[in-house]
Amino acid sequence: MMTNIFDINDENILKAADVIKNGGLVAFPTETVYGLGANVYNSQAVANIYAAKGRPSFNPLISHIAEIDFLKTYAFVDERVLALAEHFWPGPLTFVLNRIDDNPALDLACAGLRTVTVRMPNHSVALELIRKSGVPIVAPSANKSQTISPTTAQHVAESLGDKVDMILDGGSCKVGVESTIIDLTGQNVVLLRAGGIALEDLEAFLGQKILISHGNPDLPSSPGQLLKHYAPTHDFRINATKREGDEFFIGFGDVQDCDLNLSQSGDLCEAASHLFAFMRIADEDGRKIAMSPIPNKGLGLAINDRIRRAAYKKLV
Ligand code: TXA
Ligand code: MG
Repeated sequence: MMTNIFDINDENILKAADVIKNGGLVAFPTETVYGLGANVYNSQAVANIYAAKGRPSFNPLISHIAEIDFLKTYAFVDERVLALAEHFWPGPLTFVLNRIDDNPALDLACAGLRTVTVRMPNHSVALELIRKSGVPIVAPSANKSQTISPTTAQHVAESLGDKVDMILDGGSCKVGVESTIIDLTGQNVVLLRAGGIALEDLEAFLGQKILISHGNPDLPSSPGQLLKHYAPTHDFRINATKREGDEFFIGFGDVQDCDLNLSQSGDLCEAASHLFAFMRIADEDGRKIAMSPIPNKGLGLAINDRIRRAAYKKLV
C-alpha cells in the first residue's frame, strides 16, 4: 500500500508547505474534490502536474488563494468580481479573470492565456496549506486525465500513486463535485462549467442571466475558440532541423547554433517549463521564429499541441 498518505496535523501541513516551496507536488483536500497542487510560480513543478496527469494538452489550471486581497495584484478586479468573491468565497466557485500579473513564470499554469483562473476553497486544510506555502497553489483535480475526480485520499493514491510527493488525508470531500466556473472577463457572465454553486444562486445574486458556454472546457469545440491563446506575432516554423536565414532558433536536445534551448538534455518536463517564456522572448526579439522537432510522447504531446496551434495561426 502507498505510504505517502499523511494525516492532518500542524506538522504534516508544514511539511507539505515545504514540499510546495521546494517545487514538489502535494495532493490536498478541498470541499469539492482533491487537488494536485504546486507553487503556481514554479513552472517546472507545473510541468510535473501536467506530466503526472498525463494530459495531451496544456489546460489552464485553477490558482487557489487564501485571501481576497491577493487578487488585486494578480487579476483585473472590478466591483462585480469583488462582490461575488465576498459573497461566495471561500466556496466552490471559480472565476476566469483578465490577468494582470505578467510574470512569465505564470504562463504555463495559465496555458499561455491572458486570463487567470482563481478560487478560494472552503476547506481549512487547503487554506492553511496555501498560507503556509506563501504562494497561490495551482491545482487541477488530483486524478489521471480522463478519469473521475477523486474525493478521498485513497482515490488519489490509486490514480496518481507515487507521482505525488505527499497526499494530505482530509477524509471525504463534502461537496464531491468540482467548482462552478464562470468567465468574468467580459460584460456578460458566462458559465464554463456547472458545479458546486447553482446557476440559479449566481443569477439571483447578480440580478442578471448568465450565458451558458457551448464548449465543455475539457473539450473546446474548436481549438482556440474557447481558449484564446496568445500566439507569436511573427512567423513561427515548427519541426525545423536547422536555422534558416536569421531566424530566432529555439532548439531541443543536442542542437548547436540555437538562440535558446528548451532542454539540452532532451528532458520534456524541462522543455515544457520553458516553452511559454521562450516563445515570449523569441517574439519580442522580432525575427521569424523556428523550433526543433519535439518528440511526440509524454509532455511532448502537449508541447506539440500548443506549438502547432501557434504555428497554424500564421496560415489563416
Ligand atoms: O473544484 C475544483 O475546481 C477542483 C479543485 C481541486 O479546486 N479543480 C478542478 O480543476 O476541477 P481542473 O483543472 O480539473 O478543472 C478545471 C477546468 C478545466 O477543464 C480547464 O480547462 C477549465 O477549468 N478552465 C480553467 N481555466 C480556464 C479558462 N481560462 N478558460 C476556459 N476554461 C478554463
Ligand atoms: Mg479535472
